[in-house]
Amino acid sequence: MTRERPGAVRLGLLMQRCGDPDRPFGGLTPFARRVIGLARSEGVSALGIDPADVDLATGRVRGLLLKDGRWTPAAGPLPDVVWNRYFRRDRDDLLHEFARRGIPLLNESGLNKWEAYQLLLDDPMLREHLPETRLMRTGADINDLTSQYRYVFLKPVAGAVGRGIIRASLQPTGLTRLEYISADTGQLRAVEGSRPQLDRWAQEREGSYVVQQGLDLAVFYGRSADVRALLQKDGEGRWQMTGMGARVAAADRFTANLHTGGNGVPLGLLAGAIFPDDTEQREVLELELQSLAVRTAEVVDAAMGPMGELGLDFGIDSQGRIWYIEQNAQPGRTLFEHLGREDLAELAHRRPVQYARYLAQAKSARAAGHQET
Ligand SMILES: Nc1ncnc2c1ncn2[C@@H]1O[C@H](COP(=O)(O)OP(=O)(O)O)[C@@H](O)[C@H]1O
Ligand SMILES: [Mg+2]
Repeated sequence: MTRERPGAVRLGLLMQRCGDPDRPFGGLTPFARRVIGLARSEGVSALGIDPADVDLATGRVRGLLLKDGRWTPAAGPLPDVVWNRYFRRDRDDLLHEFARRGIPLLNESGLNKWEAYQLLLDDPMLREHLPETRLMRTGADINDLTSQYRYVFLKPVAGAVGRGIIRASLQPTGLTRLEYISADTGQLRAVEGSRPQLDRWAQEREGSYVVQQGLDLAVFYGRSADVRALLQKDGEGRWQMTGMGARVAAADRFTANLHTGGNGVPLGLLAGAIFPDDTEQREVLELELQSLAVRTAEVVDAAMGPMGELGLDFGIDSQGRIWYIEQNAQPGRTLFEHLGREDLAELAHRRPVQYARYLAQAKSARAAGHQET
Protein backbone atom coordinates (compact mmCIF):
# COMPACT_ATOMS: atom_id res chain seq x y z
CA MET A 1 0.00 0.00 0.00
CA THR A 2 1.42 3.37 -1.06
CA ARG A 3 0.97 6.59 0.87
CA GLU A 4 0.38 9.81 -0.97
CA ARG A 5 2.84 12.67 -0.92
CA PRO A 6 2.14 14.88 2.08
CA GLY A 7 1.28 18.52 1.45
CA ALA A 8 0.20 18.11 -2.18
CA VAL A 9 -3.36 18.97 -3.20
CA ARG A 10 -5.29 15.71 -3.37
CA LEU A 11 -7.47 15.18 -6.44
CA GLY A 12 -9.84 12.22 -6.55
CA LEU A 13 -10.73 11.00 -10.04
CA LEU A 14 -14.09 9.38 -9.51
CA MET A 15 -14.58 6.63 -12.10
CA GLN A 16 -16.21 3.27 -12.38
CA ARG A 17 -13.75 0.51 -11.56
CA CYS A 18 -13.76 -2.81 -13.40
CA GLY A 19 -11.98 -6.12 -12.83
CA ASP A 20 -9.17 -5.90 -15.41
CA PRO A 21 -5.90 -5.10 -13.55
CA ASP A 22 -4.37 -3.50 -16.68
CA ARG A 23 -7.46 -1.43 -17.43
CA PRO A 24 -8.90 -0.87 -13.96
CA PHE A 25 -11.10 2.00 -15.14
CA GLY A 26 -12.17 0.43 -18.44
CA GLY A 27 -12.30 2.91 -21.31
CA LEU A 28 -11.27 5.74 -18.97
CA THR A 29 -7.97 4.05 -18.07
CA PRO A 30 -5.85 5.99 -20.63
CA PHE A 31 -7.49 9.22 -19.43
CA ALA A 32 -6.73 8.35 -15.78
CA ARG A 33 -3.16 7.36 -16.61
CA ARG A 34 -2.60 10.65 -18.32
CA VAL A 35 -4.15 12.84 -15.63
CA ILE A 36 -2.39 11.06 -12.77
CA GLY A 37 0.91 11.36 -14.64
CA LEU A 38 0.67 15.06 -15.40
CA ALA A 39 -0.84 15.97 -12.02
CA ARG A 40 2.55 15.36 -10.42
CA SER A 41 4.10 18.17 -12.45
CA GLU A 42 1.31 20.45 -11.18
CA GLY A 43 1.98 19.58 -7.53
CA VAL A 44 -1.25 17.62 -7.36
CA SER A 45 -1.52 14.08 -6.13
CA ALA A 46 -4.26 12.34 -8.12
CA LEU A 47 -5.88 9.07 -7.19
CA GLY A 48 -8.36 6.99 -9.18
CA ILE A 49 -11.31 6.05 -7.02
CA ASP A 50 -14.53 4.14 -7.46
CA PRO A 51 -17.49 5.30 -5.34
CA ALA A 52 -17.18 2.03 -3.41
CA ASP A 53 -13.62 3.05 -2.40
CA VAL A 54 -14.92 5.96 -0.34
CA ASP A 55 -15.52 5.35 3.36
CA LEU A 56 -17.46 8.36 4.59
CA ALA A 57 -17.65 7.06 8.16
CA THR A 58 -13.87 7.10 8.61
CA GLY A 59 -13.21 9.86 6.05
CA ARG A 60 -10.74 7.66 4.16
CA VAL A 61 -10.47 6.53 0.57
CA ARG A 62 -8.73 3.61 -1.04
CA GLY A 63 -7.86 3.96 -4.69
CA LEU A 64 -5.29 3.39 -7.39
CA LEU A 65 -2.35 5.48 -8.45
CA LEU A 66 0.52 4.86 -10.83
CA LYS A 67 3.85 3.76 -9.48
CA ASP A 68 6.57 3.10 -12.06
CA GLY A 69 3.81 2.90 -14.65
CA ARG A 70 1.87 0.23 -12.76
CA TRP A 71 -1.50 0.58 -11.08
CA THR A 72 -0.89 0.41 -7.34
CA PRO A 73 -3.38 0.52 -4.44
CA ALA A 74 -3.13 3.61 -2.26
CA ALA A 75 -5.05 4.99 0.70
CA GLY A 76 -5.51 8.42 2.17
CA PRO A 77 -7.93 10.96 3.60
CA LEU A 78 -10.84 12.23 1.51
CA PRO A 79 -9.59 14.21 -1.51
CA ASP A 80 -9.53 18.02 -1.51
CA VAL A 81 -11.32 18.10 -4.87
CA VAL A 82 -13.20 15.41 -6.78
CA TRP A 83 -13.25 15.22 -10.56
CA ASN A 84 -16.39 13.33 -11.43
CA ARG A 85 -15.95 10.99 -14.38
CA TYR A 86 -18.43 8.49 -13.00
CA PHE A 87 -21.14 8.44 -15.64
CA ARG A 88 -23.79 6.41 -13.83
CA ARG A 89 -26.35 8.24 -11.74
CA ASP A 90 -26.63 5.64 -8.96
CA ARG A 91 -24.23 7.37 -6.55
CA ASP A 92 -25.55 10.91 -6.56
CA ASP A 93 -25.82 10.45 -2.79
CA LEU A 94 -22.03 10.36 -2.62
CA LEU A 95 -21.70 13.45 -4.81
CA HIS A 96 -24.10 15.30 -2.51
CA GLU A 97 -22.12 14.16 0.51
CA PHE A 98 -18.89 15.56 -0.98
CA ALA A 99 -20.67 18.85 -1.57
CA ARG A 100 -22.05 18.84 1.99
CA ARG A 101 -18.52 18.38 3.34
CA GLY A 102 -17.25 21.32 1.29
CA ILE A 103 -15.32 19.13 -1.17
CA PRO A 104 -15.60 20.81 -4.58
CA LEU A 105 -16.79 18.59 -7.39
CA LEU A 106 -15.83 18.85 -11.07
CA ASN A 107 -18.52 18.41 -12.28
CA GLU A 108 -21.98 17.68 -11.08
CA SER A 109 -23.67 15.20 -13.39
CA GLY A 110 -25.00 18.13 -15.35
CA LEU A 111 -28.26 19.36 -16.75
CA ASN A 112 -30.32 17.18 -19.00
CA LYS A 113 -31.25 18.41 -22.47
CA TRP A 114 -34.57 19.86 -21.40
CA GLU A 115 -33.23 21.60 -18.29
CA ALA A 116 -30.39 23.14 -20.29
CA TYR A 117 -32.75 24.37 -22.99
CA GLN A 118 -35.00 26.08 -20.45
CA LEU A 119 -32.04 27.69 -18.73
CA LEU A 120 -30.54 29.08 -21.94
CA LEU A 121 -33.91 30.34 -23.13
CA ASP A 122 -33.78 32.89 -20.32
CA ASP A 123 -30.64 34.46 -21.71
CA PRO A 124 -31.28 37.16 -24.34
CA MET A 125 -28.04 36.49 -26.20
CA LEU A 126 -28.35 32.70 -26.29
CA ARG A 127 -32.09 32.52 -26.92
CA GLU A 128 -31.64 33.52 -30.56
CA HIS A 129 -29.42 30.52 -31.18
CA LEU A 130 -31.76 27.86 -29.80
CA PRO A 131 -33.61 25.60 -32.21
CA GLU A 132 -37.29 25.22 -31.36
CA THR A 133 -37.42 22.50 -28.72
CA ARG A 134 -40.16 20.88 -26.66
CA LEU A 135 -40.38 18.20 -24.06
CA MET A 136 -42.29 15.35 -25.71
CA ARG A 137 -45.56 14.90 -23.91
CA THR A 138 -47.85 13.65 -26.68
CA GLY A 139 -47.68 12.80 -30.36
CA ALA A 140 -48.87 16.36 -31.07
CA ASP A 141 -45.47 17.68 -29.96
CA ILE A 142 -43.87 15.68 -32.76
CA ASN A 143 -46.60 16.42 -35.25
CA ASP A 144 -46.52 20.19 -34.67
CA LEU A 145 -42.84 20.28 -35.51
CA THR A 146 -42.85 17.82 -38.40
CA SER A 147 -45.50 19.95 -40.07
CA GLN A 148 -43.17 22.97 -39.85
CA TYR A 149 -39.73 21.51 -40.45
CA ARG A 150 -38.45 19.01 -42.96
CA TYR A 151 -36.79 17.00 -40.21
CA VAL A 152 -37.35 16.82 -36.48
CA PHE A 153 -34.92 15.31 -33.97
CA LEU A 154 -36.15 13.20 -31.07
CA LYS A 155 -33.47 12.92 -28.44
CA PRO A 156 -33.47 11.07 -25.12
CA VAL A 157 -33.56 13.79 -22.44
CA ALA A 158 -30.61 12.28 -20.60
CA GLY A 159 -28.91 10.84 -23.69
CA ALA A 160 -25.31 11.15 -24.81
CA VAL A 161 -22.84 10.05 -27.51
CA GLY A 162 -25.54 10.05 -30.17
CA ARG A 163 -27.36 7.09 -28.64
CA GLY A 164 -31.09 6.69 -29.16
CA ILE A 165 -31.53 9.67 -31.48
CA ILE A 166 -34.40 9.45 -33.94
CA ARG A 167 -35.01 11.61 -36.98
CA ALA A 168 -38.68 12.12 -37.76
CA SER A 169 -40.29 13.50 -40.91
CA LEU A 170 -43.82 13.82 -42.21
CA GLN A 171 -44.35 11.92 -45.45
CA PRO A 172 -46.63 12.99 -48.33
CA THR A 173 -48.78 9.97 -47.41
CA GLY A 174 -49.50 11.58 -44.00
CA LEU A 175 -47.47 8.92 -42.22
CA THR A 176 -44.58 9.88 -39.95
CA ARG A 177 -41.26 8.33 -40.79
CA LEU A 178 -38.88 7.59 -37.91
CA GLU A 179 -35.25 6.85 -38.74
CA TYR A 180 -32.85 5.43 -36.19
CA ILE A 181 -29.82 3.24 -35.82
CA SER A 182 -30.72 -0.32 -34.91
CA ALA A 183 -29.13 -1.33 -31.60
CA ASP A 184 -28.77 -4.89 -32.92
CA THR A 185 -27.26 -4.37 -36.36
CA GLY A 186 -25.86 -0.83 -36.16
CA GLN A 187 -27.64 -0.15 -39.47
CA LEU A 188 -29.90 2.74 -40.34
CA ARG A 189 -33.55 1.65 -40.07
CA ALA A 190 -36.83 3.40 -40.76
CA VAL A 191 -40.42 2.77 -39.77
CA GLU A 192 -43.54 4.66 -40.76
CA GLY A 193 -46.52 5.13 -38.52
CA SER A 194 -49.99 6.65 -38.60
CA ARG A 195 -51.05 9.44 -36.27
CA PRO A 196 -52.66 7.06 -33.70
CA GLN A 197 -49.51 4.92 -33.75
CA LEU A 198 -47.37 8.01 -33.21
CA ASP A 199 -49.61 9.11 -30.33
CA ARG A 200 -49.25 5.73 -28.69
CA TRP A 201 -45.50 5.69 -29.22
CA ALA A 202 -45.17 9.15 -27.63
CA GLN A 203 -47.49 8.34 -24.76
CA GLU A 204 -45.42 5.32 -23.77
CA ARG A 205 -42.31 7.54 -23.66
CA GLU A 206 -43.86 10.69 -22.27
CA GLY A 207 -41.31 13.14 -20.91
CA SER A 208 -38.29 11.06 -21.88
CA TYR A 209 -37.44 12.79 -25.17
CA VAL A 210 -36.98 16.32 -26.38
CA VAL A 211 -38.44 17.11 -29.79
CA GLN A 212 -36.30 19.55 -31.70
CA GLN A 213 -36.42 21.44 -34.97
CA GLY A 214 -34.06 19.71 -37.39
CA LEU A 215 -31.30 22.07 -38.49
CA ASP A 216 -30.25 22.39 -42.07
CA LEU A 217 -26.66 21.68 -41.09
CA ALA A 218 -23.80 22.70 -43.33
CA VAL A 219 -22.41 19.78 -45.28
CA PHE A 220 -18.81 18.82 -45.75
CA TYR A 221 -18.19 16.57 -48.76
CA GLY A 222 -21.87 15.65 -48.75
CA ARG A 223 -22.04 14.78 -45.05
CA SER A 224 -23.59 16.84 -42.29
CA ALA A 225 -21.20 18.45 -39.88
CA ASP A 226 -21.35 20.21 -36.53
CA VAL A 227 -18.96 21.87 -34.10
CA ARG A 228 -17.67 20.70 -30.72
CA ALA A 229 -16.10 23.22 -28.35
CA LEU A 230 -14.33 22.33 -25.12
CA LEU A 231 -14.53 25.05 -22.49
CA GLN A 232 -12.48 24.67 -19.34
CA LYS A 233 -11.62 26.76 -16.33
CA ASP A 234 -7.98 27.58 -15.95
CA GLY A 235 -5.67 27.74 -12.93
CA GLU A 236 -7.26 31.06 -11.95
CA GLY A 237 -10.84 29.93 -12.19
CA ARG A 238 -11.64 31.66 -15.49
CA TRP A 239 -13.38 30.04 -18.44
CA GLN A 240 -11.13 29.46 -21.43
CA MET A 241 -11.78 27.95 -24.82
CA THR A 242 -9.40 25.00 -24.90
CA GLY A 243 -10.26 24.12 -28.46
CA MET A 244 -12.90 23.75 -31.14
CA GLY A 245 -13.24 21.43 -34.06
CA ALA A 246 -15.79 20.29 -36.59
CA ARG A 247 -17.19 16.77 -36.68
CA VAL A 248 -18.37 15.25 -39.91
CA ALA A 249 -20.99 12.51 -39.78
CA ALA A 250 -20.29 9.09 -41.24
CA ALA A 251 -22.17 8.10 -44.42
CA ASP A 252 -25.79 7.18 -43.62
CA ARG A 253 -25.69 8.90 -40.24
CA PHE A 254 -27.53 12.01 -39.12
CA THR A 255 -25.44 12.38 -35.95
CA ALA A 256 -21.88 13.67 -36.15
CA ASN A 257 -20.77 12.27 -32.77
CA LEU A 258 -17.38 10.59 -32.87
CA HIS A 259 -19.07 7.61 -31.17
CA THR A 260 -21.39 7.20 -34.14
CA GLY A 261 -18.53 7.16 -36.64
CA GLY A 262 -18.06 10.92 -37.01
CA ASN A 263 -14.69 12.27 -37.96
CA GLY A 264 -13.01 15.35 -36.49
CA VAL A 265 -11.71 17.98 -38.90
CA PRO A 266 -10.32 21.47 -38.25
CA LEU A 267 -13.01 24.09 -37.86
CA GLY A 268 -11.34 26.19 -40.57
CA LEU A 269 -12.13 23.51 -43.16
CA LEU A 270 -15.83 23.56 -42.35
CA ALA A 271 -15.84 27.37 -42.25
CA GLY A 272 -14.12 27.33 -45.64
CA ALA A 273 -16.82 25.04 -47.05
CA ILE A 274 -19.54 27.40 -45.79
CA PHE A 275 -17.85 30.60 -46.95
CA PRO A 276 -15.59 29.52 -49.81
CA ASP A 277 -14.85 33.05 -51.02
CA ASP A 278 -14.93 35.03 -47.84
CA THR A 279 -12.15 34.72 -45.30
CA GLU A 280 -13.56 37.58 -43.24
CA GLN A 281 -16.87 35.74 -42.78
CA ARG A 282 -14.94 32.67 -41.64
CA GLU A 283 -13.17 34.70 -39.00
CA VAL A 284 -16.44 36.27 -37.86
CA LEU A 285 -17.96 32.80 -37.57
CA GLU A 286 -15.12 31.55 -35.38
CA LEU A 287 -15.25 34.63 -33.16
CA GLU A 288 -18.99 34.35 -32.80
CA LEU A 289 -18.72 30.67 -31.88
CA GLN A 290 -16.08 31.54 -29.33
CA SER A 291 -18.17 34.20 -27.61
CA LEU A 292 -21.36 32.12 -27.69
CA ALA A 293 -19.50 29.19 -26.17
CA VAL A 294 -18.04 31.24 -23.33
CA ARG A 295 -21.41 32.85 -22.66
CA THR A 296 -23.11 29.44 -22.55
CA ALA A 297 -20.49 28.14 -20.13
CA GLU A 298 -21.00 31.14 -17.87
CA VAL A 299 -24.77 30.71 -17.83
CA VAL A 300 -24.60 26.96 -17.14
CA ASP A 301 -21.89 27.50 -14.51
CA ALA A 302 -23.91 30.15 -12.69
CA ALA A 303 -26.83 27.72 -12.46
CA MET A 304 -24.83 24.62 -11.56
CA GLY A 305 -22.11 25.63 -9.14
CA PRO A 306 -18.42 25.07 -9.66
CA MET A 307 -17.84 23.41 -12.98
CA GLY A 308 -14.42 22.72 -14.41
CA GLU A 309 -15.34 22.01 -17.99
CA LEU A 310 -18.16 21.90 -20.46
CA GLY A 311 -18.42 20.40 -23.92
CA LEU A 312 -20.71 22.30 -26.29
CA ASP A 313 -22.19 21.18 -29.58
CA PHE A 314 -23.16 23.80 -32.12
CA GLY A 315 -24.68 23.48 -35.55
CA ILE A 316 -23.93 25.85 -38.39
CA ASP A 317 -26.55 25.98 -41.09
CA SER A 318 -25.90 26.42 -44.77
CA GLN A 319 -26.30 30.20 -44.39
CA GLY A 320 -23.61 30.28 -41.73
CA ARG A 321 -26.00 30.85 -38.86
CA ILE A 322 -24.96 29.33 -35.53
CA TRP A 323 -27.30 27.14 -33.51
CA TYR A 324 -26.83 25.69 -30.03
CA ILE A 325 -27.34 21.90 -30.04
CA GLU A 326 -26.44 20.74 -26.56
CA GLN A 327 -24.10 20.95 -23.57
CA ASN A 328 -22.24 18.14 -21.89
CA ALA A 329 -20.81 18.40 -18.37
CA GLN A 330 -18.65 15.30 -18.76
CA PRO A 331 -17.08 15.92 -22.15
CA GLY A 332 -14.67 13.64 -23.96
CA ARG A 333 -11.42 14.83 -25.48
CA THR A 334 -10.84 12.46 -28.38
CA LEU A 335 -11.69 15.21 -30.88
CA PHE A 336 -8.19 16.63 -30.43
CA GLU A 337 -6.67 13.30 -31.38
CA HIS A 338 -8.76 13.31 -34.55
CA LEU A 339 -7.44 16.78 -35.29
CA GLY A 340 -3.87 15.66 -34.64
CA ARG A 341 -3.66 18.36 -31.96
CA GLU A 342 -1.61 16.68 -29.26
CA ASP A 343 -0.97 20.12 -27.74
CA LEU A 344 -4.71 20.65 -27.20
CA ALA A 345 -5.21 17.08 -25.93
CA GLU A 346 -2.50 17.76 -23.35
CA LEU A 347 -4.03 21.09 -22.34
CA ALA A 348 -7.48 19.48 -22.09
CA HIS A 349 -6.16 17.03 -19.49
CA ARG A 350 -4.04 19.59 -17.65
CA ARG A 351 -6.47 22.47 -17.18
CA PRO A 352 -8.89 20.69 -14.84
CA VAL A 353 -5.94 19.69 -12.65
CA GLN A 354 -4.85 23.33 -12.49
CA TYR A 355 -8.38 24.41 -11.71
CA ALA A 356 -8.66 21.74 -8.99
CA ARG A 357 -5.47 23.10 -7.42
CA TYR A 358 -6.88 26.61 -7.58
CA LEU A 359 -10.07 25.47 -5.82
CA ALA A 360 -8.16 23.61 -3.11
CA GLN A 361 -5.86 26.55 -2.48
CA ALA A 362 -8.76 29.00 -2.39
CA LYS A 363 -10.45 26.76 0.15
CA SER A 364 -7.40 26.51 2.42
CA ALA A 365 -6.86 30.28 2.15
CA ARG A 366 -10.46 30.79 3.30
CA ALA A 367 -9.95 28.33 6.17
CA ALA A 368 -6.76 30.15 7.24
CA GLY A 369 -8.63 33.48 7.07
CA HIS A 370 -11.30 32.10 9.40
CA GLN A 371 -8.68 31.03 11.91
CA GLU A 372 -7.09 34.48 12.03
CA THR A 373 -10.30 36.36 12.80
N1 LIG B 1 -31.73 19.66 -34.14
C1 LIG B 1 -30.80 19.02 -34.83
N2 LIG B 1 -30.69 19.18 -36.17
C2 LIG B 1 -29.73 18.55 -36.89
N3 LIG B 1 -28.83 17.70 -36.34
C3 LIG B 1 -28.90 17.48 -35.01
C4 LIG B 1 -29.89 18.12 -34.20
N4 LIG B 1 -29.71 17.71 -32.92
C5 LIG B 1 -28.68 16.86 -32.95
N5 LIG B 1 -28.18 16.71 -34.19
C6 LIG B 1 -27.04 15.85 -34.59
O1 LIG B 1 -27.03 14.75 -33.69
C7 LIG B 1 -25.85 14.81 -32.88
C8 LIG B 1 -26.18 14.34 -31.47
O2 LIG B 1 -27.11 15.21 -30.86
P1 LIG B 1 -26.89 15.77 -29.39
O3 LIG B 1 -28.02 16.65 -29.06
O4 LIG B 1 -25.53 16.33 -29.28
O5 LIG B 1 -27.04 14.44 -28.51
P2 LIG B 1 -25.95 13.52 -27.75
O6 LIG B 1 -26.07 13.90 -26.32
O7 LIG B 1 -26.41 12.12 -27.99
O8 LIG B 1 -24.61 13.84 -28.31
C9 LIG B 1 -25.38 16.24 -32.96
O9 LIG B 1 -24.01 16.32 -32.68
C10 LIG B 1 -25.73 16.59 -34.39
O10 LIG B 1 -24.77 16.06 -35.29
MG1 LIG C 1 -23.72 15.77 -28.38
